[in-house]
Parts: sequence; C-alpha cells; structure tokens
Amino acid sequence: MSSRLDAAHPQTVPGTPHFRPAIHYTARKTWLNDPNGLVFFGGFYHLYYQNNPYDNVWGNMSWAHATSTDLVHWTEHGVAIPCDEAEDIYSGSIVVDRANTSGFGTATNPPLVAVYTSAFKDGSPHRGTQAQSLAYSNDGGMTWSKYAGNPVLSRGTPHFRDPKVFEYSGPRGSWWVMVVVEAQEQKVVIYRSTNLRDWEPASEFGPANAVGGESGAGEWECPDLFPLAVDEDPANTKWVLVVNLNPGAVAGGSGGQYFVGDFDGVTFAPDPSCLVDMPQSNDGAALRKCLWLDWGRDYYAAVSFSNVPDNRRLMIGWLNNWDYANSLPTDPWRSGMSLVREVRLETIEGHPRLVQMPILPAAGTETEGAFALERLELRDGALQLPDAVPGMAQVIDVEVLPGSAQRIGFRLLGASDGGAGTILSYDTATGELTLDRRNSGNTDFHPKFASVETAPVVLDPVGLDPLGPDPVASLEGGALKLRIVVDHCSVEVFAQGGRVVMSDLVFPDAGSLATSFFVDGGKAVIRKLTVSDVS
Ligand code: FRU
Repeated sequence: MSSRLDAAHPQTVPGTPHFRPAIHYTARKTWLNDPNGLVFFGGFYHLYYQNNPYDNVWGNMSWAHATSTDLVHWTEHGVAIPCDEAEDIYSGSIVVDRANTSGFGTATNPPLVAVYTSAFKDGSPHRGTQAQSLAYSNDGGMTWSKYAGNPVLSRGTPHFRDPKVFEYSGPRGSWWVMVVVEAQEQKVVIYRSTNLRDWEPASEFGPANAVGGESGAGEWECPDLFPLAVDEDPANTKWVLVVNLNPGAVAGGSGGQYFVGDFDGVTFAPDPSCLVDMPQSNDGAALRKCLWLDWGRDYYAAVSFSNVPDNRRLMIGWLNNWDYANSLPTDPWRSGMSLVREVRLETIEGHPRLVQMPILPAAGTETEGAFALERLELRDGALQLPDAVPGMAQVIDVEVLPGSAQRIGFRLLGASDGGAGTILSYDTATGELTLDRRNSGNTDFHPKFASVETAPVVLDPVGLDPLGPDPVASLEGGALKLRIVVDHCSVEVFAQGGRVVMSDLVFPDAGSLATSFFVDGGKAVIRKLTVSDVS
C-alpha cells in the first residue's frame, strides 16, 4: 500500500478553517479514508473509519470512531481499534450479534462484532497476506477487544480484504454472509457462517462491468450487498451488490459501481439488464453504461449501515479519490465523508435502479429557505443568488425548464470579481449535466485534480404546475430537478430526485462565496428555486 503515498506528496497549508465543512464529517486533526463498521446501535449511528491517528496522510491504518443521533452532526471519540506491529486494521463492517452466535457476549448483552481486514506486517508470521479478523465490544461500541483466534478467514493471498457481513434469512434458514474481495482479481467472494468465527465458501462474482481499464490495474474494493423493496413494494425485493473500484471509475480514479439482481443466501445473480459488454479498454461509452453510485470524482468506498430501523438503507462514502487523496490542501485534517444518503430502488426505464437523496439537518431545508422564487423566465442572463455563508452549508433546490436555452446552470463558490467558480450546468443538446471545477480555486496541488465531469440526465415530463396555468407550458423538453449541497470544500448534486448523483471536492479561495444561476442561448424558466443555509 506504499503507493498510497503518491509522488505529489502531502502539501500542508497551515490552518485552513475556511475549508472545514459544516455538515460533513472530518476528523479534528488527522487523516481519514473509508467508512467502516457502520451500524445503528443503542440509539446512535456509529461511524468507524480508516484513520491515521498520528498524521494527516494515509498510514498506520486503524479504526477511529464517531457517533451521531441525526446522521449529520458527529462526535469524534478517537481510536477504537489501533494498528500494532503485527497488523494494520483495514476496512470492514460491524454486526449486532443478537443471538450471541459468536459467544463474545451474553444472551442479555449481545456483542457488537467487527469483522475487519488484518493487513499483516513484518511483525506477524502472516506477513504479506491480508485476511479477515474479528474484534468485539460489550459496551455498545466504545471499547474493543481483538479475538485471540484471529485471523478467522485467510486464503494466504495478499489482496483479500474489506469484509461486509450481514445476516441472511430466507426459506432455507438464517446465517451470516460475508462479501469480501480478491481486489486484484476483481472478484467479490462470498462466504457463510453460523457463528462469525468459522467461514465456508459460498460463491464468487466477477469480474464484471468496470474492472479498471486496459492496464487491468483496477482493484475491486469495499463491496456491499443488501436487499431493497422495488418501488416500496415489499413483495418485490431485489438485491444490490455495490463494488467500489480504483482506478477505473467513470470520472477517473476511484468510484463505486453497483449491480441489481437476486441473492439466495449463497449466490448473487445479476439481472442481465445491468451487465455491460465491456471492451478490453474498459472506457468510453461502455463505461458510461455501467451503473454508478456517483458520476463525480469524489465518492468512494461507499457502504451501508447495518441494523437501521424500518428497513431504511443508508450509505456513506469517502469524499475523495485516491488519484490525489494525500495531497488535498487542508490542515490540520485531511479528507472527509460524504453526506449520508438514503437509497431506494425505483423502476427507471423498466429496470430497478438506485435513487439516492442526502440526509440534511432537520430544519432549514425544503421551501423554508432564506430565499425562494417561483416562475421566473430568463433569457440569456444571470441571476444573482444569496452568497454561501461561512460556517453553514448551502442547499439549493431548483426545478427548471431548460426550454430553448442551450445551457442553464449555476456558478457556485464564485469569486466576487466574477472570476473563479465551480460551474454546474445542463446542456440541452447533449442531455448532460456537467460539473466543472477547473476554475474552482486551488486546483494545482495535484496534476489530476482539475477536472470536468459529465452525466446523462433524462428530463422529467413537465407536470402540471400546481400554481395553475403555466406561462411556460409551451416550453418543450421537460424539467430538470436538482438538489445541490455546497459545503465549503464540496459540491454534491442530486438530480431528478436522486437518479443521478455527482460529487466533487473544490477548494475555493477564502471569500469565494458568490452564487448565481445562468441561462445561455435561449429562454428557460425557473419553476421554483430555494436557497437555504443549514448547519
Ligand atoms: C479502499 C482501501 C481498502 C482498504 C483500505 C486501506 O480505499 O484501499 O481496500 O481496506 O482502503 O486503508
């Protein structure tokens, strides 16, 4: 993993409070990467994560811990499972062992069991391999003990990691299932167990769809597998297999793809509609046909919480990309998490597909915003919107009919002189949403950072305007609905109710807070627009 410390090396900028997000988790002073061990237990959402307790670059991988009651505001608790001379603690998951199948707790005080990857080091007889190990907590996740019989699952291989464990219940019974990867073989391997200690092979999935390009160098990492009702119909459940990939994602570098299919407790069978005939080169048009969690540069290692009430499925990702992760110009911390997303399956063009919407602070969103307007026609022009507010995240909700315009969009976190800014735009000719951060502020800390991302977005039919006869009913082409969350160093865009998501980091100069909406090359109509500040 030494390649993690890229040549561009950390560039620390002393004290960058203007980049500290208001509603995204960052560690106070240190480095973080993947979310780990996401679980709801004892009234708290627990977020463990890959952390370097001693520095703000990747290394000394340990699990640190934070908790939240609302999935937005987190309390940092420090290191939960530290690395030592024998092993680094790589990514994994946590289950509530309600029936104490592992024997690590009691029937009345069921243990939390963490299943993590031991990345064995020179101080271990297992050096050079990665294998799956257990730790348990009898105090609701605050302190952890490693199991003396570790590792519990080894193949003797060097890139076997990132176990996600869940309880499967079906017609043939109940057991624990682990999805885990042979990263360089681009394979999800599936195991089963009745006690979390003894694992037997069940099946394998992959390679399939995106595998990392011509070089074949992509690694499959951090898998997840979970059921969801399609269109909220409990009688129609499908399974979603998430496979994170680095490099080789649609926007370049790290990203997450998914497959929809069926799972019988042993084998995952993807729906044929998800499978893409990939050319060897693994890029271009075929790559864009794969199913992506996010079309931006910065949503990686995304996995879901376990034990969430009401069958809700909540995911969180690392808001970063291994292409430049260690070079982000923040100090003293480096890297943060995405917003938590609630995900559902919806039938889209005849097939079940993920839709994702962010969890936001309870107050201050929707139409309660500081600024709201309705039914505004705009021809070739720009409309100044309220500036972003330091210390708060800006949430923009808009429904716009692009009409005859060639391009409509937003300039976000813009310099007051009208120069730098992050441009989010929709092009009516190509039907693509574009996020352009080439002129977003500090982009030169790494040669791979400046970038433009695009995603296909199908406009919604223009529904009847609830306000009555619509002065714009003559506009053809449909409606674009966006929820945009801007939080100091990030822009996350949820289009068409979350059918398409795009997340990018940006590092604007301090004071670059200007926001505007623009229309180029024709006439468009804003049906409704709100801007809210939340924290
Ligand atoms: C993904 C990853 C995982 C690994 C961890 C190490 O970003 O490479 O595969 O467990 O990070 O920090």
